[in-house]
Amino acid sequence: MAVDYAAWQASWDAQQTVFMPDREERFAAMLDAVEAVTAGRPPRVLDLAGGTGSISLRLLVRRPDARTVVLDADRSLLTLARGSLDERAEVVAANLGTPRWREQLPHEGFDAVLTATALHWIAPDRLRALYGEIRAVLRDGGVFINADHMKDDGLPTLNAALDRLEKQRQEAAYAGGAETWPGWWERFGAEPAVADLVRERNELFGGDHAESHLPPVSWHLNALQAAGFAETGLIWRGHLDAAFAALR
Ligand SMILES: C[S@@+](CC[C@H](N)C(=O)[O-])C[C@H]1O[C@@H](n2cnc3c(N)ncnc32)[C@H](O)[C@@H]1O
Repeated sequence: MAVDYAAWQASWDAQQTVFMPDREERFAAMLDAVEAVTAGRPPRVLDLAGGTGSISLRLLVRRPDARTVVLDADRSLLTLARGSLDERAEVVAANLGTPRWREQLPHEGFDAVLTATALHWIAPDRLRALYGEIRAVLRDGGVFINADHMKDDGLPTLNAALDRLEKQRQEAAYAGGAETWPGWWERFGAEPAVADLVRERNELFGGDHAESHLPPVSWHLNALQAAGFAETGLIWRGHLDAAFAALR
């Protein structure tokens, strides 16, 4: 039976939105920055660790003239990206765990590298090096934007309280019937067209999720400056999450 790509995208979005009620807001902030740096020219975007292609789908609605490359190590989610996007998108399987991911790119010189809720799966030493590799695939003046769990170091007490509040809201959503992360994966893994690929990603990530590394904003800004970015700062914040931008 054919895969219902739209339904899987909708349930992916719903499941992610329980963790991030302001998910669309952060995507909109990222796309504003893309519009700003491309100033009317067709944007060439790399959707890094892009999974189902959430960012690329929104980019192409806003900018039908854009071209995008969705890169991820998880070939089950890439099946959804491939089935949902059109010829304006290239879908690439590659693991960011080594610098060899660049060999899989169809081109470099991107206007923007965008990533969301993904790079906390990568250990800090590797992430520092990855920031340098991301800079290298941007054109001069291009922008790298990462939206992720990224606390403000100056607010530890408020952060702890916000963390409790967010967990209470999530529990209330699950009590009201919202689908959980493991629940979504169990259902997706039972989809015959992707069952083998879901088993492959479970082996790759050592279970249903890789370990999380959650350094604060200052760590990211220092790492970006060390990687040679010319300008760095936040373009969006919501509770414990933020999006930084770094200009080459
Ligand atoms: C929570 S999803 C977010 C996907 C998308 N940005 C979104 O917001 O819907 C995190 C993604 O990071 C990808 N990822 C994690 N570690 C990776 C790695 N080492 N190489 C490539 N992709 C990775 C996962 O496969 C997954 O698709």
